[in-house]
Amino acid sequence: MAKPKTQFVCQNCGTVHSRWAGKCDGCGEWNTIVEEDPMGGIGGGPSRAPKKGRPVALTTLSGETEEAPRIHSGISELDRVTGGGFVRGSAVLVGGDPGIGKSTLLMQAAAALSRRGHRVIYVSGEEAVAQVRLRAQRLGAADTEVLLAAETNVEDILATLAEGKRPDLVIIDSIQTLWSDTADSAPGTVTQVRTGVQAMIRFAKQTGAAMVLVGHVTKEGQIAGPRVVEHMVDAVLYFEGDRGHHYRILRTVKNRFGPTDEIGVFEMSDIGLREVTNPSELFLGERNAKSPGAAVFAGMEGTRPVLVEVQALVAPTSLGTPRRAVVGWDSSRLAMILAVLEAHCGVRLGQHDVYLNVAGGYRITEPAADIAVASALVSSLAGTALPSDCVYFGEISLSGAVRPVSQTAQRLKEAEKLGFAGALLPASSAELPKSSASRWTEIEDLPDLVSRIAGSAARLAKTQEDD
Ligand code: TYD
Ligand code: MG
Repeated sequence: MAKPKTQFVCQNCGTVHSRWAGKCDGCGEWNTIVEEDPMGGIGGGPSRAPKKGRPVALTTLSGETEEAPRIHSGISELDRVTGGGFVRGSAVLVGGDPGIGKSTLLMQAAAALSRRGHRVIYVSGEEAVAQVRLRAQRLGAADTEVLLAAETNVEDILATLAEGKRPDLVIIDSIQTLWSDTADSAPGTVTQVRTGVQAMIRFAKQTGAAMVLVGHVTKEGQIAGPRVVEHMVDAVLYFEGDRGHHYRILRTVKNRFGPTDEIGVFEMSDIGLREVTNPSELFLGERNAKSPGAAVFAGMEGTRPVLVEVQALVAPTSLGTPRRAVVGWDSSRLAMILAVLEAHCGVRLGQHDVYLNVAGGYRITEPAADIAVASALVSSLAGTALPSDCVYFGEISLSGAVRPVSQTAQRLKEAEKLGFAGALLPASSAELPKSSASRWTEIEDLPDLVSRIAGSAARLAKTQEDD
């Protein structure tokens, strides 16, 4: 048999190249291509005589299908994100920055499931048994029957899992440490991670155990491998948060068995993660309603309303190029709002530094925050505080028009629940709840918003700049 040629695999996206190159054609990343042995799995391994295929039964789209069997942890923030509990026979990838709390969350989930009588096996490849035990003690999980192993070899892990009673849940922490004898490349490479994950998914499918795979991966997928893994697993959850803040968000980005865009909110304490059942109260906790430049945005995360404060500071600059700094929002979206304010409302901010911050370290992804951002900016520029009992939402288009957003009723309901009596929202929003106690102000376009908030003050700023 001819010696198999080595191949060159991008560690970011998995594209196979015939020779080494500085830049990957597949994803455009630099210095990600590594030489690997195809025996390891990519490309199919050594050539063999093709096996004769076996026909499978074809079926129709309609028909009886059973609900996916799930195991509930009883941690409601976690169960909501997974779509009602871990699905038996499926694989879930939990990604997140190192140190964000993945191991903590999963140890708590393991303990909760074990208390409900499930057989849970926790395989740690990063920490020694003593370290995991220490964490379990801190979390009050040491008295549960979670079974523990510190192992990284795929074959050894599979042999261990196959022994004894079939597990209900297996946690592999983390996939970056997995290595298999069948793949020749170094641990941590795409081939190794992929081979390991494939073996774990196969185990889950064969035995009906729910498999949770931990991966160190940021949303940008900077760390080798896991992006490739996302396609292989049934669900991908991201655990995010800001090191400077205590709360953490578990977010679904892919789920074959449930909704995506759900979040679970937790607070990191010295005894582990606590569920936060009302996130709005957390994000609005330290609000200073009387200062200019603060607007409360009524946002949605999946099916869940989240109220959060948007803070803006607009200050005259002495620099040639004014500063624009954004935390918790998209900076190009801010640039767009500034341009629309200037073009359609005459609010000139070319001589001003603009700082925008979303309170509590929260990150807003919805364009519906446009109105809240614009309101905060105008309020800061005018030096007048916005009414403290009002929420803001709506999308702004380049023409300055204000566009309706989805789930208006849920946003308003949450605002009312938390004591906000007013809302500035797009005109022609459907589904407005009929409530006599509340003031809903419908906005036609951005100039309308600006004149309502600080018409005269903003115009004053404009004439000052003209002089
Ligand atoms: P960890 O779960 O180890 O993170 P990951 O697995 O994502 O790398 O948690 C890391 C941080 O959490 C660590 O800095 C210590 C902190 N922590 C607490 O604040 N409270 C706790 O009860 C525990 C167990 C950890
Ligand atoms: Mg960990």
